Amino acid sequence: MPNMGRSAPSAGPIVGAPQGPAAAQQSQTRSTTSPLVEIDAVDILFYARKGLLGRVSIPAVNGLSLDIHRGETVAVVGESGSGKTTLGRASLRLVKPAAGRIRFDGTDITQSSEGKLKSFRRRAQAVFQDPYSSINSYMNVYQIVEEPLVVHGIGSKAERREKVRQVLEDVRLSPPETYLSKYPHTLSGGQRQRVGIARALVLEPEYIVADEPVSMIDASSRAEILYLMRNLQQRFGIAFLYITHDIASAVHFSDRLAVMYLGRIVEIGPPAEVVAHPLHPYTQALIAAVPEPDPANRHRQRNVVPGEPPSPSNLPTGCAFHPRCPRFITNVCDGTTPVLKEISPGHQVACYLYEETAAGMASAAGPAIESAAGSAETPSP
Ligand SMILES: Nc1ncnc2c1ncn2[C@@H]1O[C@H](COP(=O)(O)OP(=O)(O)OP(=O)(O)O)[C@@H](O)[C@H]1O
Ligand code: SF4
Ligand SMILES: [Mg+2]
Repeated sequence: MPNMGRSAPSAGPIVGAPQGPAAAQQSQTRSTTSPLVEIDAVDILFYARKGLLGRVSIPAVNGLSLDIHRGETVAVVGESGSGKTTLGRASLRLVKPAAGRIRFDGTDITQSSEGKLKSFRRRAQAVFQDPYSSINSYMNVYQIVEEPLVVHGIGSKAERREKVRQVLEDVRLSPPETYLSKYPHTLSGGQRQRVGIARALVLEPEYIVADEPVSMIDASSRAEILYLMRNLQQRFGIAFLYITHDIASAVHFSDRLAVMYLGRIVEIGPPAEVVAHPLHPYTQALIAAVPEPDPANRHRQRNVVPGEPPSPSNLPTGCAFHPRCPRFITNVCDGTTPVLKEISPGHQVACYLYEETAAGMASAAGPAIESAAGSAETPSP
């Protein structure tokens, strides 16, 4: 039976991968040096009806590139509708890009058929906000966690039972016998999400997209679940894309933090640095809007990100944030779209404030532009 006990992260066969010793050597080299997931200039378009006969395209993800390395957690934050879930779904090839490439462990899966994606589907899993939205509510915990093994034809009945027991221990539903015959509605929100994580883990994936995994759980269990995921990630070397609205947890539980606005990453870097020294005016506004944790300050007026996001079907020209930006540079920001530029090691931002020529124009036109290091100041909304 294939690999029922997890040890070090595996570099198993992938769709369309070359075979033989040379390929194995190439695959090993890739595994240590190349990203596990490569999203390269990807566009994802949806279509919505407009009027009786017309339709309008919604660019949910827009020329986005992101590499995720083995054992790395990349957190993605951004307002509702910024494209976080679509990015996660694209990386799992649950939606097909209109442009760009998606590679997994070096293999291009952009246009692969479902048949060819079978091995990838085993190696890449998802943990959802509501793990039961797609699960038959008449299945008990054992059936829920066993099902992916059955679907992929893995193990004998006895081996599967042992694997399910082991994975329930891994997610700290212990002793497993207490939970095997329970139904989801008899479990707490935290226990249900542990079952959801066990279902994702049972196939020993190398990559997991966790899309707001704790937003429906009571506050007291949230940190426990996030610590559990961090622990599993470190123990098994799993790469995570952690999608959240909660910047504080993103900082605590990720290795890199990406900020999305209308389908693009506008800033990415080491989480503590992005939060302490946010460069993009949108990141600055998002961070200023984080609720005040100190109860003594609860009556202080809350900041909000200024304005409303424009309709994704009618994006502004240039920097998509420009209609809301307090530091808009006339004739620059509404021209062409700024691209990500590295400002300090690993910290990139897409904003004309950090382009010398444009910043010079802005200085001449009005308020001084701070240096990258000094720009942590939060603009007043
Ligand atoms: N199946 C779909 N059909 C049409 N439009 C869609 C579809 N899925 C997403 N969209 C649109 O794509 C854009 C990005 O949506 P997405 O769900 O990825 O955002 P999000 O950042 O995950 O938001 P939230 O924080 O609310 O979950 C939105 O404008 C959304 O309305
Ligand atoms: S490019 Fe211009 S509009 Fe966009 S965030 Fe930077 S300053 Fe604001
Ligand atoms: Mg979402």
